[in-house]
Amino acid sequence: MDFDDLVRRRRMVRDYDPDRPVPPEVLDRLLDYAIRAPSAGFSQGWGFLVLTEPADRDAFWAATTEPGELPDSWLTGMRHAPAIVVAHSNKDAYLDRYAAPDKGWVDRDEARWPVPYWHIDTGFASLLVLLGAVDAGLGACFFGIPPAHTATYRAAFDVPPQYTPIGAISLGYPAPDRRSPSLRRGRRPADEVVHRGRWGRR
Ligand SMILES: Cc1cc2nc3c(=O)[nH]c(=O)nc-3n(C[C@H](O)[C@H](O)[C@H](O)COP(=O)(O)O)c2cc1C
Repeated sequence: MDFDDLVRRRRMVRDYDPDRPVPPEVLDRLLDYAIRAPSAGFSQGWGFLVLTEPADRDAFWAATTEPGELPDSWLTGMRHAPAIVVAHSNKDAYLDRYAAPDKGWVDRDEARWPVPYWHIDTGFASLLVLLGAVDAGLGACFFGIPPAHTATYRAAFDVPPQYTPIGAISLGYPAPDRRSPSLRRGRRPADEVVHRGRWGRR
């Protein structure tokens, strides 16, 4: 697909055809895109948990929602997704990488980091999955795991402590869904967010 079309067509999809799995080779391709994301110092401090078995997906939703919670329309649609990829970042991988002789930050001081590159890089990788999904004719949605459910999520899937789930990506063939109410805010025009030469100069 033409890159311009791909970017313009991408949107978060929150309901899926539950009877149409994501072909394994397509899922593998999306994960291959993910690991081609840029990363600071080529640290590649990410990890992806792929859930396609119904029991695993059920365990994911059980761990990340309130017990006994009646599914609202968001959850009902999202639970139809035949695949979930949870993206994790590993801060230690960055602190270790930058303590290596060619970088030399042997004190592992986090104050050296302008922003948490470990989360940024995993976000870049996630975006490649989202864009790859559009190219493959799939729908996808990046969504957060609420902090109150992180511990139960980790325990359910044996996620090591150094890995932080930065978000999950539901994947599947799209079903008609409701537009997110957030979209009523409208897209901020380039004129408002782009500054040329000096902040405030359009
Ligand atoms: C970091 C991040 C967290 C998000 N969390 C959620 C979420 O928890 N639930 C959800 O339905 N959408 C979530 N979204 C999707 C946004 O609502 C969506 O990207 C935004 O409304 C713009 O819509 P579009 O991506 O369809 O263009 C998230 C997006 C990002 C980038």
